[in-house]
Formats: sequence, structure tokens, C-alpha cells
Amino acid sequence: MFVAMFSVRMRVALGVITALLIALVSSTYALADGPWPNDPQGPQARSIADLYWIMFVAAVIVLAIVDGGLIYAGIKFRERPGHVAKQFHGQNFLELTWTVIPTLMVVSFSILSWQKLDFINNTRSSDVGMVIQAEGSQWTWSFTYPHEDRFRLKDGKTYLTGSEELHIPVNTKVRIELSAKDVIHSFWVPSIGGKKDAVPGRATELWIQADKPGTYKGQCFEFCGDGHADMLITLIAHAPNDYAKWIDTAKADLERVSSPETAAGRELFRSLACAGCHTLKPLTSGKFPGAPELTHVASKPSIAGGVLSPVNEANLTRWLSNPPAVKPGTQMPNLNLSQEQIHDLVQFLLTQK
Ligand code: CUA
Repeated sequence: MFVAMFSVRMRVALGVITALLIALVSSTYALADGPWPNDPQGPQARSIADLYWIMFVAAVIVLAIVDGGLIYAGIKFRERPGHVAKQFHGQNFLELTWTVIPTLMVVSFSILSWQKLDFINNTRSSDVGMVIQAEGSQWTWSFTYPHEDRFRLKDGKTYLTGSEELHIPVNTKVRIELSAKDVIHSFWVPSIGGKKDAVPGRATELWIQADKPGTYKGQCFEFCGDGHADMLITLIAHAPNDYAKWIDTAKADLERVSSPETAAGRELFRSLACAGCHTLKPLTSGKFPGAPELTHVASKPSIAGGVLSPVNEANLTRWLSNPPAVKPGTQMPNLNLSQEQIHDLVQFLLTQK
């Protein structure tokens, strides 16, 4: 009834206005974040963005020509009072035009894509400056740096490893060799390059390169279970001098947590509830917001928010034996650890200076 109140012409006009309004409102949200590639910060990301923009601009031009022609023909040749809709049968010139031009466009886009893909997929070129292994597991990435002298720890046989943060030098083509421990993951740092799946039992690789020092956010891009959304990658690109400094710090940190004398405590820390809440770099990154960071706990003035001071064997033992008894209401539960477990944990924590 309501619709019947309007003439055909008014209904068409209303329909067009409604469609334009919906398009405007929805595109405002889409444009706020941008349906565009991230601001590219490396040669690979740049070539992906270039390809995107060439295709996007061509698509917009085609859309304007096709829809423009459609609207023009619809208005000009339509049926109206005293006017029969115009009939066409065959138009060789037009038909050739709209066959030849799209064919040429598709062929040239294919050639362009092949060229770009060749560049993007070339992980084995002679200019690769460094190779890092990345293993995905639910739900973190761990990285093994090259078996080069500069990455070798004091013991002479272990090399630098890390998780979540990936450190690279700028302007260096780095090949990332991917593997997966459990399920399929996907490595992606959008502003630096494309994405690649890490598949259990299969070797895959990609390359990355950053133009400028900085921190670039990445995300696992293959749904891999509950923690998928939190499976982040922080890519940190350093200037050459800073990279050398970072290597020294990272090695010292790794040596701090990996001493063979405190292995028992370290494994307890990693396997018990401790690891889920507390961050102790580079061993664990806890997710519980209130849990104090324990990276250099042995150098702190106190533990348990100042209740126990100094940080020594007696106080750590007292705390681990029954936290709520020392600090009523604390979020840390009594884990009912054995005397031996407490001893091992305390010995480990005391070396975290
Ligand atoms: Cu790993 Cu998603």
C-alpha cells in the first residue's frame, strides 16, 4: 500500500537515494581503517602494494566506464510515453571493443603479477644476507638465529634463540624458514611483506626486508585454535650498530635463564602455573595483568608488592610456600609445591639478576 502511493519514477529515485546512503554510511567505516595495503616499509611490501594500486585504479576506471555506459543507455533508450524502447541487434565495433580491451587488460595484469610474484617468492637469490628459522606452535613463534659466531653463546655450542620478538638488521634481505610444531600457522607482518603458511612436516619459506629501524606488528594468519588471535609477531628492525648491541643483550639474557645449574628450577617455572602469569624474559611472557614481571627479580628491592624484602632465599621460600598466608588477598594462589620444588625454583629465581 505504502509503495503504491508513489509513482514508478519516485520509487526508482527513492531506491537510488537509499542505496547511495547505505553505500556512504558503510564506506565511512571501511575507509576509516582503509581497505588498502598497510603503509609498506620494505621492498616486498612495496611491490605488493604497487600491484594492489595498479589493479585498484584499473578496476575503478572499468567500473566508471561500464556503469556509466549502463546508466546512460538505460536513460537514453528507455521506453516512455510516446517512445518505444530502442532495439539493437549486433554492433560489431562495440562488441569487438569490449572483448579486445578486457582481454588485453587481463593478459597484461597476469604478466605484471607473474613478474611481481617472481620477486616476492625469490627466497633463494644471492643477496639473501641472513637466514632465520621460525617455528609456529600453539600459540607463539620461536626463532632460531643463524649458526654464526656472533650468535653463539658462551658455552660454545648453543646459538641464540628467541620467541615472539623477531630481530633483524635493516636493509638486509632475510630468509625466514618456516615450520610448525602442531597445526598450520601463518607468518605475516603486513607492512614488511606477504604471508606464508607454516605447515607441520613441510618446509616453507618467505623473505622479509625492512627499510628503516622500527617495530612492526605481525599476526598469525591461519586459524590455529583458542589462542590464534593472540599469536602475535613483533618484528624489530635495527640499524647495524644497534643490531650488534641487541645480539649481546639477547645472549646475556638467554645465558641468564639457561644456566645448566638451575635447569630444574627453570623447567618447573616453565611447566608450572608460573609461566602462564609471569613474564620472565626471554623464557616466558605471562598473560595475567597483575602478575609482576620477574625478568630481573633478583635485582629488585622486594617481592610481593613490597611485603617481602630483600629478595633472598628465605623470603622467596616463604612466599612460594604459601603466598596468601604472607599477603592475604593476593591473586597468587598456594600452588602446594613440595620442599624440593620450592628449593629449585628459588635457586633459579636468585640467578635472575
Ligand atoms: Cu597460529 Cu593462528
